[in-house]
Amino acid sequence: MRILVVGTGAREHAICLALKKDALKKDVELYSIMSNQNPGIARISKFQMADENDVQKVKKYALDNKIDIAVIGPESPLEKGIVDSLEESGISCVGPTREAARIETDKAFMRDLFQIHHIEGSLVYKVFDDSEEAGNFIEDFGQDVVVKPIGLTGGKGVKIMGEHLKDAGEAKDYVKQIIDNKIGGHARAVIEERAVGEEFTVQAFVDGDNLIAMPAVQDHPHAFEGDSGPITGGMGSYSDKDGLLPFLDKKSYDESVGIMQDTIKAVKNEVGPYKGILYGQFMLCQEGPRLVEYNARFGDPEAMNVLPLLETSLVDLCQEIVDGNLKKADFQAKATVCKYIVPQGYPETKAAGQVLKVNEKAIKDEGALFYYAAVNQKDSEIYTSSSRALALVGTGETIDEAEKICEDVTRYVEGDVYHRRDVGTRGLIQKRIEHMKEIRGI
Ligand code: GLY
Repeated sequence: MRILVVGTGAREHAICLALKKDALKKDVELYSIMSNQNPGIARISKFQMADENDVQKVKKYALDNKIDIAVIGPESPLEKGIVDSLEESGISCVGPTREAARIETDKAFMRDLFQIHHIEGSLVYKVFDDSEEAGNFIEDFGQDVVVKPIGLTGGKGVKIMGEHLKDAGEAKDYVKQIIDNKIGGHARAVIEERAVGEEFTVQAFVDGDNLIAMPAVQDHPHAFEGDSGPITGGMGSYSDKDGLLPFLDKKSYDESVGIMQDTIKAVKNEVGPYKGILYGQFMLCQEGPRLVEYNARFGDPEAMNVLPLLETSLVDLCQEIVDGNLKKADFQAKATVCKYIVPQGYPETKAAGQVLKVNEKAIKDEGALFYYAAVNQKDSEIYTSSSRALALVGTGETIDEAEKICEDVTRYVEGDVYHRRDVGTRGLIQKRIEHMKEIRGI
């Protein structure tokens, strides 16, 4: 069987490694399309350098190489209809069609779906294409709101009153900017109530009808320690051996999975089956989990927490997604901590093109894992880009153990880079637990 992975980051490196794990046993050949030469992916697959959003090029490469299944890593090719195009040519995909991917690419579609199908866990919201009406809504609402462009913004379009927006005046200005400048590709914005609590991620394999949830993960979107600084693509993440999180109980996790199950049923009803990976970002609030947003793919960095623990063959799971007969997915009962090494100045400046030295052997010898992200290999050197460079992962019996392994190996990466030392540390996790107790009044 020939499997093509589309995408170039650490998430795709993790997907490739998980597929490669049983590639020999399953007689699988791995192919990839990437826009930067990711050294980790390049050494384990046959690859072509190309823009992963160039649907025609990806299709030609897939047809030329007789690909059986394509696994789509990032969201933007999904929005461009890569799955529709590949499936028309007889290539099966792990990834939703353009319409089903609207769960991520069209935030108004997502919220409306919850309303129409009476799915639990939504938030008060309204969609606007007129900034004056939006302004009146913000004034009348009288509480903090979250303002989102309806389309894709690479995680940088969501602004929260009380955090990025000082007051109602700034919230109104931002809605006007979205509408006037079509931020996210559309002159429309969603305004939602601000949910207060602790965020967590649940990712799931989905075959159109059935859903298998993976262990919960918590990401750290802020650039700097103590959850300060600008919002990034995610600076690191952790998961626990029981599949829950120190502040997340089983009932709330199960409720979140139930919300995701109801969602795929609703998507099937509205636009046809959803096949691929569904990523639910939830806020655990006083009343229970609330859906913040969906992604139509694995999370980054959250993929690096779950995929190394996957005991079931990812090749089999991809086949089952395509065939619509998902059965089960087992994960090792271990804790994980992932820390991203990023260029100095990330995410604000464009300090790209610096040499990154990674002592892979030393990292492996310490029992840690590494995943290359937005770097570019030229000859024998690896160069940073303006985005995240390398994800390091420690696994262990406890989060504490996994954190120590992960932090310890950061010294084997040299370059003009930084990372958040506090991800997965006892102190920060205790802060999360205390915050949750306060929210829930216990
Ligand atoms: N961890 C955020 C994302 O994958 O979009």
